This record gives sequence, structure tokens and C-alpha cells, in this order.
Amino acid sequence: MSDKELIRTIGLSLGADVCWPLCYEHMMRRLDLRIPSAEGTIRFGVERVFIEPFDLERDCKYDVVIDRLTHWYHTSREWIKKAIIVNDLYVFNNPWSLQSMEKHTSYCAMLRLGMPIPKTWLVPPKAYTEANPDVHPTLSRYAKLFDLGKLGELVGYPNFVKPYDGGGWRSVVRCADEPALREAYEKSGTDVMHVQAGVAPFDRFVRTIGFGPQTHHVLYNPEAPLHDRYTMDENFIPAAEAEHLRKITLTINAFFGWEFNSCESLRKNGVWHPIDFANPCPDSQVTSLHYHFPWLVTAYLRWSIYCAATKRKMRQTLDWTPFYDIADSGGTFEERLDGYARLAEARFESARFEEFCAKHLSHLDAVAWEFFASDEAKDAVRQKVTVLYPAHEIEQFTELFWGRIQKWRAESASIK
Ligand SMILES: Nc1ncnc2c1ncn2[C@@H]1O[C@H](COP(=O)(O)OP(=O)(O)O)[C@@H](O)[C@H]1O
Ligand SMILES: [Mg+2]
Repeated sequence: MSDKELIRTIGLSLGADVCWPLCYEHMMRRLDLRIPSAEGTIRFGVERVFIEPFDLERDCKYDVVIDRLTHWYHTSREWIKKAIIVNDLYVFNNPWSLQSMEKHTSYCAMLRLGMPIPKTWLVPPKAYTEANPDVHPTLSRYAKLFDLGKLGELVGYPNFVKPYDGGGWRSVVRCADEPALREAYEKSGTDVMHVQAGVAPFDRFVRTIGFGPQTHHVLYNPEAPLHDRYTMDENFIPAAEAEHLRKITLTINAFFGWEFNSCESLRKNGVWHPIDFANPCPDSQVTSLHYHFPWLVTAYLRWSIYCAATKRKMRQTLDWTPFYDIADSGGTFEERLDGYARLAEARFESARFEEFCAKHLSHLDAVAWEFFASDEAKDAVRQKVTVLYPAHEIEQFTELFWGRIQKWRAESASIK
């Protein structure tokens, strides 16, 4: 084995993120990794990616980039696409899956794989603002008048009117009857909307965060204020159902090339219905995740370190055929789901990842446990709270989120 030092550089392509990158950087320093390999000892550097003009032929100093801008910031998106194509960069998430980040594509894909997606229709927008001169002739020639009342009957009540590409509960309306549906559509403006059957009543709402092959289930309370939506409940579903949701999440993520994403599923009459699982680049803020935040930070670290250390090749194109082959192979849905999950685990290299973590990152939990008691960690929480809350609430909410992280530490005391 060579005694050469090999530096792997991980880039953080960030926007408004405050808390998780600080914790990620502090923990990477504390981990102080030296991973032996045939070519030498692998060490890790973390740098923030800056926005600047770039030459399309320029080389790229990063081995892995964790990106939180591509879905809305075009300059970074194009730099990332260039770096993947020209420099063989590995990026979370695949920027070509962007077209699937609207819910619509993911509903279609998951229906194709046999998942129980609630009945969903897409309706053309109510209004148009575009100055495009083709809009009028196109619509007057080809747009069919339709009866929203009939559509409502087909979908059933209650239903949800929501943008086909939604996010952050924007313009989501629950309609109990036809007048409510008509009103919601009238008010929907230029958005392309879905009308979706309500999963009602549901008895469990679970968010499953997926990061590479890692998953984490949270019982979610959509009625609560933002800081209480991710509950701290445990044992809220039987192990077999947790396993079912894990497989669904891995399937969705592997299908679209999403390395981090969160999937929302609702349970009604014992059946899990995925309703919103196109949340790639998911919420990573301590102000919503609190108790679950340490899990997410360690998940970021594990997967990015694994990808950088092993120089695993990024899957640059989406290959759906193997999923469809399973979908068309017959058998029960559970059997097919097992097949999808096996494929997903192969794509995410679950077994090799577990082995790598056991061998090289066995101290990570203990480092996290210690770090999340430190002033640096508390300062990261306070910085995030300061951005979001009015001055007179900063102390109160810093203590609230910090207290929940300490609860996580108390419950994880066995790892110290
Ligand atoms: N089909 C549905 N059945 C029951 N509740 C729903 C349904 N669709 C949406 N909701 C409710 O509306 C919220 C927002 O809808 P969602 O599809 O998750 O959009 P967004 O992408 O904006 O989060 C969900 O968290 C859930 O509480
Ligand atoms: Mg949602």
C-alpha cells in the first residue's frame, strides 16, 4: 500500500441553507478520516461551491457535489451539467431528473409500477398570461370544454386540487364538494392543476427520508405548526410496514436518480398510498427536523464520504427498462416491490455501503453524539433560528430545537 495522501474534495452547492452545512463541516473535521486504499490514504476536504462565470472546458476540483440549487437556480444547474458531462463529476441529485421533480411524472411512473396512487386527473390551466400569440389560436381550435362537476364525480370527494408540480403546500385546496372544487379551479389562475382523490380518512401520515440506501421514517402531523410537524413518536407502525415504506422510497429514488428525497405516504384501511414523493433535495433544516436533524446530517456525511472515497460512478442516465421488466413480470404487488427494491439496492450499492460504514465510519455515531452537545452545534441551530424567527423568539426556539436534539442524544446514549 502506498503512503501517498489522496484528497477527495466534496463541494457544497448551497443557497439559503445554514444549519446542516455548518454541522456537516464541523463533523467532517472531527471525524478526521484517513481511509486506507491501494493507492494511498484517502483524506477529505469540504468546500462551498461559488457562483462565477465558467469556461465549458474548465476542469473541476470536486469529486462529489451535494447540490441544493439545481431545481431553481439555472447557472448552478448548467455548471453541474457541464461538470458531469465534461469532468465526470458525481452530483446529488441527477440534474436530468429535474423534469420528474414535478409530482405529475412521479405519479405516472409509480402508477406504471403498480403503486396505489389515489385517482388523479390533470386539468389545463384556468387562465393564461403568456404573451405568446399562439395561445389564442391553439386554445380556440383544440382546447375542449369540459365539465368539472363530472370530473369531480369521477374522482370523488373529498379531493385535493393542487399544482401538478407543487411544493411547500402552495395552492393546495381540499374540496369537500362540487362548489368547493369549482371555486378552487376558478382561483387556480395560470397553474396546471391536479384533482386528486383524498386519502380520507387516513390513520397514519409518514414521511420517509431517503439518502442513498439509507432511510428514516417520521410520523408526520400536517395539522401542526411547522416546528411540530415532524413528530418525535416512535414505533408508530409495525416493522413490516416500515419495511414496505423503505422499499417504496428506495424504488422511487432509484427510478428517478434521486439520491436524497422525502416521500409522503398515507395509510387508509391498512393500505399505504404514496401521495407526494417528488421532494428531491428535501427539507434539511433543524427548524423543521429538530430531533431528526442529527440523523440527516450523519446520512449526508455517510453517503457523500462513501461516494467520494470509492469513486463510485454516477449513473448519468436514467434506465427504466429493468423496473418495467419487473412491473410486467406478474405476481403480487409485494413480490414486484421486492424486485424493485433489490434493483434499487443494487443501484445504491447497499451491501457495499454497509460494509464501508462498518469498516471506516464506525465512530461516526459517537462523533455525532459528542458534536451535538457542543457550542458549535448549538450555534448552528441558533444561526438558522435567527434567519427564520423574529428577534424576540430566537432564544425560545433555539432552546426548543436544542432540547429536542438533546432528547435524541439521551435516547441514543448507547452509541457514545
Ligand atoms: N390525496 C390526498 N389525500 C389526503 N391529503 C392530501 C392529499 N393530497 C394532499 N394532501 C394534503 O395536502 C398536503 C400538501 O399536499 P402535497 O401533495 O404534499 O403538496 P406539496 O408538494 O405542496 O407538499 C399534504 O401534506 C396533505 O396534508
Ligand atoms: Mg408534500
